[in-house]
Amino acid sequence: MKRIIAAAVMASAFVAAPAMADLDLAKKSGCLACHSVDAKVVGPAWKDVAAKYKGKADAKATLVNSIAKGSKGSWTAVTGGVPMPPYSPRVADADIGKLADFILGL
Ligand code: HEC
Repeated sequence: MKRIIAAAVMASAFVAAPAMADLDLAKKSGCLACHSVDAKVVGPAWKDVAAKYKGKADAKATLVNSIAKGSKGSWTAVTGGVPMPPYSPRVADADIGKLADFILGL
């Protein structure tokens, strides 16, 4: 737990101001329990997610779908096969779009 908090604090210290609001949204939405920007926690590092999907035409749609409905099997090599839980409707669609944009912009 200490390591997760340290990773989240470090991640927030290194992102530029406009991204802070999005990181705050991620925190409020509960994402940072399993993710950090630069390091694998339970889920993959969001920088690795950005690197994997960047430049793909359907990148945003893919991430929106994974956040809304959950995801399983895309990151088994990193996570050992742990699934990501669905976040819709706990997180509003507009916020899911913002989170997908934020992650792809890393
Ligand atoms: C309970 C832990 C947990 C929480 C909380 C969590 N995730 Fe994840 N996330 C995961 C795991 C595990 C994976 C890898 C799933 C897979 O292998 O397909 C993942 C994968 C992802 C991916 C990549 C999906 C893909 O299609 O490749 C994104 C984007 C993501 N999470 C964003 C978020 C956001 C945004 C939130 C908060 C709304 C969040 N996660 C909350 C565990 C979590």
